[in-house]
Amino acid sequence: MGSELIFRGHEAQHKSDEYSPKPPKQWLAVTRPIRYLLREQRLAFLLLGIAIATLVFSLLPSSPTISSASSSAVRSLMHESIEGKSFLSDESTRVVPYRVVGAFRSGKVPLGLKRKGLRIVVTGGAGFVGSHLVDRLIERGDSVIVVDNFFTGRKENVMHHFGNPRFEMIRHDVVEPILLEVDQIYHLACPASPVHYKHNPVKTIISFTNVVGTLNMLGLAKRVGARFLLTSTSEVYGDPLEHPQKETYWGNVNPIGVRSCYDEGKRTAETLAMDYHRGAGVEVRIARIFNTYGPRMCIDDGRVVSNFVAQALRKEPMTVYGDGKQTRSFQYVSDLVDGLMRLMEGEHVGPFNLGNPGEFTMLELAKVPISLYAARIPVVQETIDPNAKIEFRPNTEDDPHKRKPDISRAKDLLGWEPKIPLHRGLPMMVSDFRQRIFGDQKGGDSTAF
Ligand SMILES: NC(=O)c1ccc[n+]([C@@H]2O[C@H](COP(=O)([O-])OP(=O)(O)OC[C@H]3O[C@@H](n4cnc5c(N)ncnc54)[C@H](O)[C@@H]3O)[C@@H](O)[C@H]2O)c1
Repeated sequence: MGSELIFRGHEAQHKSDEYSPKPPKQWLAVTRPIRYLLREQRLAFLLLGIAIATLVFSLLPSSPTISSASSSAVRSLMHESIEGKSFLSDESTRVVPYRVVGAFRSGKVPLGLKRKGLRIVVTGGAGFVGSHLVDRLIERGDSVIVVDNFFTGRKENVMHHFGNPRFEMIRHDVVEPILLEVDQIYHLACPASPVHYKHNPVKTIISFTNVVGTLNMLGLAKRVGARFLLTSTSEVYGDPLEHPQKETYWGNVNPIGVRSCYDEGKRTAETLAMDYHRGAGVEVRIARIFNTYGPRMCIDDGRVVSNFVAQALRKEPMTVYGDGKQTRSFQYVSDLVDGLMRLMEGEHVGPFNLGNPGEFTMLELAKVPISLYAARIPVVQETIDPNAKIEFRPNTEDDPHKRKPDISRAKDLLGWEPKIPLHRGLPMMVSDFRQRIFGDQKGGDSTAF
């Protein structure tokens, strides 16, 4: 077999001609950026930048409250991390529950930090109680949106806020849903006097008050994570068999009477509020309001105080229904507003009785103003006849015989009790009624005391 010389050197030769990059030097990857930084005083500039940024951020006050509308994504995250679960059905509008964002709201605001105003809806804010509540919220620095259909409310009650950038008013019936980004909802919208709620009882129970209106507002509270306060009533106790009435008393209500649209409606509203609280995690507050009086009450709404004052001013006989021995307690509106705000800011759901435990028979009430005006307010004395007559009429159906709140719970847990006795509150109301009935503008702001 002949030997064959096979030249294989070309393979080796070929390889050595090929381009082969130098193996990367590992240490260069570390030193190169450092050398870059050290060159041309870049490091000094970097350190200076960090120092300025630190200074700026440490000087800027961090807000104690997080606006519920600031960032739904952030709020959503916080909601998840704090609650661990969400009750809210609409993922895109999930917000931080009030408990979290409101951490500083009712407590102490750290020194040097200014309390941030809240955004608050007051349904029925153009009415008697609502308008006084709006005054106090605006005075506190909050932004207020009044939602009212003016069924019994009046623009005049809130007109003094027109032009204030923290005040808005929406003509709206709470029977229809509404979406507003707010922190708190005071739900007052409801015809409150027998004349008005008996006017259309079916609408009172179904829509106005109680079912659809309250449902819509609870839905809004759930959606935007707002705290919700329901203004319920002492009427939930019906014609009470327990006296005075504690919150633990379940009441004695006629479910088929002429007042039931209001009484049962408010009871249903309380039920709805509690079910939203238990089932959907909505922070609710329930106030059971006892008879309240004061400036801006509807003049002819048939409520006993406004009736007596208007009749006495017009020199008409004061109408007493039945024998006049039924009792009521009367609180001045500023006391109620104080109680509502404490309840909203506090940590207790309630229900809480908010009323003045001072008890008067209707006959006493009819006489008290006259002697009072005569003794203390000469201006009113001129108008109201101290000898005004009392006219007795048959009592209205289901009129409760006795009504007097036990307010121990509100005293203990809210630190609240009424301060204005009848003899101080009535003259302020008379002054307001006098101006409205006779167009007398001399009295100035009758709500001040
Ligand atoms: N004043 C009291 O003595 C008393 C006692 C117990 C309970 N409350 C409750 O307090 C709340 C306020 O009572 P008030 O005395 O100020 O009565 P009000 O009639 O003066 O005020 C009620 C307000 O709600 C508005 N409203 C009624 N239905 C509405 C609707 N469907 N949509 C939007 N707005 C509507 C009215 O226009 C009015 O402005 C009511 O819920 C009432 O039941 C009041």
